[in-house]
Amino acid sequence: MDRKEKVIVIDFGGQYNQLVARRVRECNVYCEIYSYKTDLEQIKAMNPKGIILTGGPNSCYEEGAPTYQEELFSLGIPVLGLCYGAQLMMHVLGGRVEKAPVREYGKIQVSVDSSSPLFDDVSETTVCWMSHNDYISQAALGFRIIAHTADCPVAAAECAKKKLYAIQFHPEVLHTVEGTKMLYNFVRGVCGCAGTWRMDSFVEESVKQIREKVGGGKVLLALSGGVDSSVAAGLLSRAIGKQLTCVFVDHGLLRKDEGDEVEAVFGQDGDFDLNFIRVNAQERYYAKLAGVTEPERKRKIIGEEFIRVFEEEAKKIGAVDFLAQGTIYPDVVESGLGGESAVIKSHHNVGGLPDYVDFKEIIEPLRDLFKDEVRKAGLELGIPEKLVYRQPFPGPGLGIRIIGEVTAEKVRIVQDADAIYREEIAKAGLDRSIGQYFAALTNMRSVGVMGDERTYDYAVALRAVNTVDFMTAESAEVPFEVLQMVMSRIINEVRGVNRVFYDLTSKPPGTIEFE
Ligand code: XMP
Repeated sequence: MDRKEKVIVIDFGGQYNQLVARRVRECNVYCEIYSYKTDLEQIKAMNPKGIILTGGPNSCYEEGAPTYQEELFSLGIPVLGLCYGAQLMMHVLGGRVEKAPVREYGKIQVSVDSSSPLFDDVSETTVCWMSHNDYISQAALGFRIIAHTADCPVAAAECAKKKLYAIQFHPEVLHTVEGTKMLYNFVRGVCGCAGTWRMDSFVEESVKQIREKVGGGKVLLALSGGVDSSVAAGLLSRAIGKQLTCVFVDHGLLRKDEGDEVEAVFGQDGDFDLNFIRVNAQERYYAKLAGVTEPERKRKIIGEEFIRVFEEEAKKIGAVDFLAQGTIYPDVVESGLGGESAVIKSHHNVGGLPDYVDFKEIIEPLRDLFKDEVRKAGLELGIPEKLVYRQPFPGPGLGIRIIGEVTAEKVRIVQDADAIYREEIAKAGLDRSIGQYFAALTNMRSVGVMGDERTYDYAVALRAVNTVDFMTAESAEVPFEVLQMVMSRIINEVRGVNRVFYDLTSKPPGTIEFE
């Protein structure tokens, strides 16, 4: 990888900061995020091709607000300030920033001067995402105003000679229609990056970093078979081979054949160099879950049993140096933790594992990536598409897709019904367009007739939802003929089912899972 091409993002605590990094990576330029507490000398030592200062919640003129010495702007390195970053640049260089008479929030029409290299090929009037209480009332000396809105006299300013750019709005947010172009213009045009970075460079760079960090140490990873832990396993295996041990707990609540699929990829006959331990814990789980019907209790038992099993395996392995996790960036955001709180999140993430397992440090190689980037890295590492494009699957697995008591028989029913559903959805070409879809087993039995016989069997519920963030969701419009085919196959092929429902409920009021 061309290390000369690095752009660094200085994080002032805004909510879109990872997006900035992501957009830069989309321009094929490698990018890393650092806290605003990072020392100027350290920044210089990294020799970046460009620096981007992000937004943040503070007012730059208040005492104690995050700041940098003036020197940051005279290193000869191009700097782009966004929102707080833009205000800070003006404030430090002698402009004026104050509380805005009109607070701008939302999509705003911005008039830009397209003679600026920052706005090369950008429309003269363009919709941008604004979110600010303070504004730049006067640009610093040597700066030229290159964009304004009805309420914001300095929506962007440049000092072309020093390659300093300040933007009041957020080009990283998709609501800023031509935002990616602006960031492209900065990193590729102003900074002069060649744009040679690809996902394979991420893999390469991570492999190097992991090797440096781990040295000759031992690493333990709980592999769930989901996308994130699988990609983490692939990456660690590439970096340190047999110094990695993956423990895969098959709790008997996975989708049909999933346990074998994971073993086929990561086990002895698979393509990866690592120690793979599969624990077949089905019987233990079913025994613990016998007679339990209360959803929270079920979740708790499944979580606790996972820790027990993992702990037993970890004890056999002995002390390890690192516990690896497949934490990805949205996990960090969702827990409301970031940056320096990362380790707390990791503890939380595995339900208290670190109390039981003897290790020195946590290692999270995917923590800066978004889901689709994780998938790209997975493909890069040679993990099969089937696994890389696996849909989200909850930790407690089918345990929360079986209403009421979990038994081996019910698991078999829901696994078979779900496999048919997935097969038909894929046949209809809908597998990549629907957010999440699965079969669940209601606890309802009803009377039916099959052949000339009366039946008294279970009802299966089919669920398919579209969602952006999994916080809200709409029931997906699966074509009726597909649903009919699934219904007919489930009733014919899955013993114990005589009725199929389609769940129309959105979230809220429903949740995506059933329990
Ligand atoms: P709900 O049911 O809360 O689901 O609307 C939202 C998303 O989260 C997944 N989910 C879980 N994932 N552990 C997980 O790792 C869990 O306990 C869990 N519960 C729900 C669910 O599949 C959906 O994608």
